[in-house]
Amino acid sequence: MKIEDLLGIKSEEERVSALYEIFDEDSRLSSKATRVEFLTTVRQIEKHLQPGMKILDLGAGAGEHSLYFAEKGYEVTSIELVEKHVKRIREKKRPDMKLKVFQGNALELSKLEDNNYDIVLCFGPLYHLENIEDRFKCIEEVKRVCKNDGIMFFAFISNDMVIVTETMCYQSGFLKGEQYNHKTFKVKDFPFVFATVDQARELIKKSGLTIVAEVAADGLSELLADKINNMDEESYELWLNFHFYYSEKPEFLGWSNHLLFLAQK
Ligand SMILES: C[S@@+](CC[C@H](N)C(=O)[O-])C[C@H]1O[C@@H](n2cnc3c(N)ncnc32)[C@H](O)[C@@H]1O
Repeated sequence: MKIEDLLGIKSEEERVSALYEIFDEDSRLSSKATRVEFLTTVRQIEKHLQPGMKILDLGAGAGEHSLYFAEKGYEVTSIELVEKHVKRIREKKRPDMKLKVFQGNALELSKLEDNNYDIVLCFGPLYHLENIEDRFKCIEEVKRVCKNDGIMFFAFISNDMVIVTETMCYQSGFLKGEQYNHKTFKVKDFPFVFATVDQARELIKKSGLTIVAEVAADGLSELLADKINNMDEESYELWLNFHFYYSEKPEFLGWSNHLLFLAQK
């Protein structure tokens, strides 16, 4: 039996909300090391962004991406499952921003029109939805609301890097423990749902989408967090410059905690 079943937690909203009582989403991207993921992702989005484009941010968290683009004048819609996060976005939103914020589930976007957004960000739902059927359903919704020439951005947490970072940074007993299959190296999907590069690719391709880019969003940042956080400003800028270069190299894709896939219909 799972922990959430024992606690009597039922709905997706309750399950995910309970998780974010442990993880503080508001400060997640605030250190130099964690900022690498945000800056890399924004850079990839900006490659495709043109004035007047409409952005949908699914699983918007505390609003980091939504607010960044709304600040730049883009029309942004944020959908977020956890009430606490929705409140945070609303607190940070300025009245002049073209930002709409809704509490909702990325699995059910019936209030949103077909073919409506130039850019759809899906950074969260695919590593929270426990059933593969729901992950496919989520991508179907993303596809439906994205314009025919729009770009969809999907984030995954890399199964294989979990083994590296848990062992090296957090749990000395991880290697010997039961949190992963010692033959297949599949990590148990708790507290997040983890995907290998191949599994992420397969999910997108089987949804009928074409992958246009694959990016090692944060690369080795979590593993090297202490070193990156202690860099002076000049070194950090140079590290970022190098990271942007290597994040697009196929041979580095697996060496990243977050995997970013760009896709089109
Ligand atoms: C780690 S946070 C990432 C937030 C932000 N998108 C980012 O990239 O920094 C994942 C977010 O996805 C939200 N989420 C998970 N499943 C969701 C779903 N089915 N529908 C909407 N939001 C969901 C969570 O509540 C959480 O705020």
